[in-house]
Amino acid sequence: MNVRPPTPEGLKPKDLIGVPWRLAFALQEAGWYLRDDCIWHKPNAQPESVKDRPTRAHEYVFLFSKSEKYYYDSSAVRGPNDRQLRTVWDINTEPSKHAHEAMFPTKLVETCLALTSRPGDVILDPFLGSGTARVTALKLRRRFVGVELNPEYAQEAEQRLNGAIIRDRSKASSSAGPKPPPNSASPPTSRPAGVSGSSCR
Ligand SMILES: C[S@@+](CC[C@H](N)C(=O)[O-])C[C@H]1O[C@@H](n2cnc3c(N)ncnc32)[C@H](O)[C@@H]1O
Repeated sequence: MNVRPPTPEGLKPKDLIGVPWRLAFALQEAGWYLRDDCIWHKPNAQPESVKDRPTRAHEYVFLFSKSEKYYYDSSAVRGPNDRQLRTVWDINTEPSKHAHEAMFPTKLVETCLALTSRPGDVILDPFLGSGTARVTALKLRRRFVGVELNPEYAQEAEQRLNGAIIRDRSKASSSAGPKPPPNSASPPTSRPAGVSGSSCR
């Protein structure tokens, strides 16, 4: 069975398409500022059976802004020995019990959110998948809007978020000191800061 999709026009068979860079250039042309290309290096990358090129162990993380000036907190994430963060990030992929095959490691998402947003800011993830950005936004107290094409993944993200909210609440109540006496008025219940009521479907 031939599983290789047809070669895109203008390319030769076996040519690397370079989708990330093509997208980066298209966004630049559309007016975005391309500020940096970071390498997500995966030290635990899966072996490949290829014999005519190196095994792939990285992906790109592009930093775009909508204007020349933008929010960036270089103190939020530091490199080894408290040096300014470099553009190569060594982050292992994480084993997962979730169905989604392309889940991002939490550390990767946390790095991006911590550098470029503040508590209370709204994070938009137009490719939600299993919702890593959503649970990370909760952890960092950012609000969140997610969009996902596949209803099964959207449901998975919803379940993951619910689990994260329960853990977040029990953590908050265990660090809140002694429990009130049984008959005292309970505080109003609300979703924790950083979680929007938006649907991810
Ligand atoms: C690489 S995965 C995202 C993984 C996510 N960062 C995580 O950690 O789980 C990309 C997701 O985008 C979704 N997707 C693809 N095209 C889309 C579209 N046009 N609109 C919304 N979601 C889309 C796919 O179904 C897939 O779940």
